[in-house]
Amino acid sequence: MQKIILKKDDIHKGNLILVNQMHPLKQKVEQSFLEPFNSKYHSVLISKEANKWLQNLLEVIDADNKIVPVSGYRSLFEQTEIYTSSIEENGLEFTKQYVAYPNTSEHQTGLAIDLGLNQEPIDFIRPAFPYQGICQDFRLKASQYGFIERYTSDKTNITNISAEEWHFRYVGYPHSEIIEQNHFCLEEYIDYLRKFDSSNNCLKFENYEIYYIAMESEEKEFILDGAEISGNNVDGFIVTKRIIDKE
Ligand code: DAL
Ligand code: ZN
Repeated sequence: MQKIILKKDDIHKGNLILVNQMHPLKQKVEQSFLEPFNSKYHSVLISKEANKWLQNLLEVIDADNKIVPVSGYRSLFEQTEIYTSSIEENGLEFTKQYVAYPNTSEHQTGLAIDLGLNQEPIDFIRPAFPYQGICQDFRLKASQYGFIERYTSDKTNITNISAEEWHFRYVGYPHSEIIEQNHFCLEEYIDYLRKFDSSNNCLKFENYEIYYIAMESEEKEFILDGAEISGNNVDGFIVTKRIIDKE
């Protein structure tokens, strides 16, 4: 029985953190959390766990050279540069639609990646990632590999970001699949999970049990028992437990 202490500060860490205008980033990413997309695109960094799934997916759909990484992890400095230079080049209205205000960007978590069809010219802020061909092959399989298309046209009133068909966010399986099947955006999913508030009242999906732990106090004891834990960057943790069949 592995007992751990959940600390309030840690709600800002993990694959399920919600980062947006309302919930800015609170913790800096450790460099050891990141790795280069591959040796060719070594300056595009992404979470090691996310990249493992991403590379598997790209291989399965045979995307080599057809899909390229355009932007992965960004430091606060880089996000600020992109934001200010976009205002100069494209104006404030455009920038607010397509570039998150510094410290409210998922790119600063290492869990987001912009992908583009490998076809010149590749626009850095809005790369082409059409709903057909190889890009659509990627999109249709993304949720099986832990990724969601984060900003869709039907959720702009919630996300406050325009449709970004190139921006994929790693949340991990099975969360990606549940989000996809319910047509949620991440804001809606994090909210939805609040009603599953204990192991006795959990969301069951395939062989997983998922629930939310509210974090009102500074610390809470928790029996890990093989579960994975992520903060939600709002007010608590999400527990994900894989139930192994007993023979
Ligand atoms: N393009 C997304 C919204 C970002 O800048 O994080
Ligand atoms: Zn992006």
